[in-house]
Amino acid sequence: MERKNVTIAPDEIAHQRGFTELIRTMLLARESRPAACVDTFGCQQNVADGEKLMGMLKEMGFSLTDEPKEADVVILNTCAIREHAEQRVFGNLGALTHTKKANPHQIICLCGCMAQEDRVSKRVKESYRHVDLVFGPHALWKFPELLWQVYESHGRVFAVEDEVGSIAEGLPTLRQEGAKAWVSIMYGCNNFCSYCIVPYVRGRERSRDKDAVLAEVRELVEAGYKEITLLGQNVNSYGNDLGGGYDFADLLSDIDQIPGDYLIRFMSSHPKDATHKLFDVMARCSHVAKQLHLPFQSGNNRVLKEMNRRYTREQYLEEINYAKAKMPNLVLTSDVIIGFPGETEAEAMETVSLVEDVGFDALFTFIYSPRPGTKAAELPDPVPRSEKQKWFDRLLEVQNAKSAAAHAAYVGKTLRVLVDGESEDTDWPLSSRTEGNRLVRVKGNKSLIGTFADVKITDSNTWALYGEAVTV
Ligand code: 5AD
Ligand code: SF4
Repeated sequence: MERKNVTIAPDEIAHQRGFTELIRTMLLARESRPAACVDTFGCQQNVADGEKLMGMLKEMGFSLTDEPKEADVVILNTCAIREHAEQRVFGNLGALTHTKKANPHQIICLCGCMAQEDRVSKRVKESYRHVDLVFGPHALWKFPELLWQVYESHGRVFAVEDEVGSIAEGLPTLRQEGAKAWVSIMYGCNNFCSYCIVPYVRGRERSRDKDAVLAEVRELVEAGYKEITLLGQNVNSYGNDLGGGYDFADLLSDIDQIPGDYLIRFMSSHPKDATHKLFDVMARCSHVAKQLHLPFQSGNNRVLKEMNRRYTREQYLEEINYAKAKMPNLVLTSDVIIGFPGETEAEAMETVSLVEDVGFDALFTFIYSPRPGTKAAELPDPVPRSEKQKWFDRLLEVQNAKSAAAHAAYVGKTLRVLVDGESEDTDWPLSSRTEGNRLVRVKGNKSLIGTFADVKITDSNTWALYGEAVTV
């Protein structure tokens, strides 16, 4: 891919600001300040996109609400990774017929990964006629122009053309309150894991310029953010499209030079691209959290091949052994899929045995969900759901015991955590995260929110740690 074609020209971004101004002027003439509601589903990349949409809406003069019925503009920012996520969105979309009936001027928008799927945009066009604007991730930066078109035409607008994808710098971002910030370092995916829809909806891999990333991180640290998570579908292939040999490990090293009291995390990583160099850099860099989310998906080599993952069980184990040797306190998490088409019980049990052998701190577990348009969706899938569920339950049983044991080992220790908000548990009113990203519910004063604090761990279970803030 030619780099020069990837970045949206600054004058095009400025042109979008022109539409923002047009909308702002139009809205100012109204009696009351209009409100917008952005409902985001799915992964952190979507959350980051949602913050950009909110940034754009704010510049247009909207206030933000969580209540669709109070909103003049409602946006569903969707996820396509599994069927269940899509069904939820269609349910929510259906419910919006009522809010629109109550407020006929309400504008309803569908965006995100689902919107980029042909199948979905056609269904919305035909059967969800109350939806005014549909745009995929490729058109996110054009949201002001698209919304203006809806206002101007009083008709429906669909911006869902398939693209290799672009990079839009300089979009406004409304970061959520708190000490945590997301920074996308690259977009898209080239891997085409056979079960996954992402490469079809988010285009090809493209890396942001390193100076743009460094400037954004520096700005966030200076603004007081304490935890910055670098995002990409596969951060380990950062830089491949830039040429010049500058890679993700180099980027981490450079970020680490930025002075301040903050933590850097990153996700997701692909084992086929994780290098010893990356683990060496992680071990050496004081700002980089000793935490790794490295999805292995399956513990069986035939299934891995069918998934097009391009590593073996043995290679995966070698990698994490190296990483653990370099970082003895490394907190390791992973993603797993059970019930890939054609997977046998014996093969699924190899996944369970890998989980047993490695001892992940936490695991994100999924039952395979066919995604139309992907290779795996074409494969015969004879095993009934009920059988897959049994394998899945066995996996959970093993992992839950591991998580509980890993958490119990913290009891009695004093850990430095980032207090990130209130918790819903009145006995433990604060919520926080360890460097390894373990959830800790804390007894302590609200004034700790947004700061690093020392917490003595007193209790634990499978899902969380519990402790008391230690005053020094
Ligand atoms: N079915 C089930 N799980 C999936 N994932 C991705 N695609 C599918 C699918 N079709 C899981 C993978 C990935 C995580 C984000 O979602 O484990 O790492
Ligand atoms: Fe999907 Fe694989 Fe790309 Fe991750 S690396 S987004 S699982 S295709």
